[in-house]
Amino acid sequence: MNRNLALEFVRVTEMAAIASARLMGRGDEKAADQAAVDAMRTMLDSVDCHATVVIGEGERDEAPMLYIGEKVGAGNGPELEIALDPLEGTTVCATGGYNSISVMAIAEKGCLLHAPDTYMEKIAVGPEGKGVIDINESPAENLKRLAEAKKCRVQDLTAVVLDRPRHEKLISDIRNAGARIQLIGDGDVSAAIACAEPESGIDILFGIGGAPEGVIAAAALRCVGGDFQGRLKPRNEEEVKRAHAMGVTDINKVFQIEELASGHVMFCATGVTSGSFLKGVQFKSWGAITHSIVMRSQSGTIRKITAEHHFDTKPRY
Ligand code: FBP
Repeated sequence: MNRNLALEFVRVTEMAAIASARLMGRGDEKAADQAAVDAMRTMLDSVDCHATVVIGEGERDEAPMLYIGEKVGAGNGPELEIALDPLEGTTVCATGGYNSISVMAIAEKGCLLHAPDTYMEKIAVGPEGKGVIDINESPAENLKRLAEAKKCRVQDLTAVVLDRPRHEKLISDIRNAGARIQLIGDGDVSAAIACAEPESGIDILFGIGGAPEGVIAAAALRCVGGDFQGRLKPRNEEEVKRAHAMGVTDINKVFQIEELASGHVMFCATGVTSGSFLKGVQFKSWGAITHSIVMRSQSGTIRKITAEHHFDTKPRY
């Protein structure tokens, strides 16, 4: 993959972030999501590639744009697969909360798991925890191993968990193990990536969230040398069938990070509202400032880009 493509793709998440950030706090999740989808779809066609959306807004019959299987890109250049979420954390954006982002993971054809739209049990850590986590072990055991790897005490670790009734036992297990907990309302992609960001204060992510978000988070952690494991958690027979139809033969399989996102991977995200690793869009009299991250697994380079967008020369916004 041409390395310059990563810088082309970040322009896509920047525009989606600006469009949805305009609608921050309006209480209208649909409108914020739609604005992000429209901007992302438009911008994608300016990138020189031949890409297929493998994780997107849903099936073709339920999502008119950025649906699974949709072809995007200017039509020339390499054949790629894209896992995207124009607005990850729609409720967060609609309520003006923390941690909504516009996000895309890009890989060569055949390298991203085509995850069904169901739940996934996840565990994620940064580079220091690579190779030590095991989703089949208890939270206490994983925390103990991570503490050893980080040369600290379990009490010094912070676990991030989605605040959901389904996590009652998990939360109690983590508390009993002695670790600190950060409960989040939404946005487990940001939370997973934050595990690899020393400044975030987050060490490990546990819990069940969206499976598509799991693939996106795994792609991001591949770029920074972190680790991730996931196991699908379908809610009903329908979702099991869907998973089988998408090529998952063993529904209880633990997917390792390389099975979720293999080969050369690129990742871009732009903050919509401020969060643990990206600031949100700031609007000015002349335009807007965006904060993005762009990463490539091949080089391991992590770019943090602050961009000023001048609306007099970018009339669409
Ligand atoms: P959306 O962007 O689709 O709103 O997803 C937000 C999110 O919090 C994800 O980060 C997470 O994986 C998933 O929802 C959790 O699902 P649920 O809200 O059903 O627990």
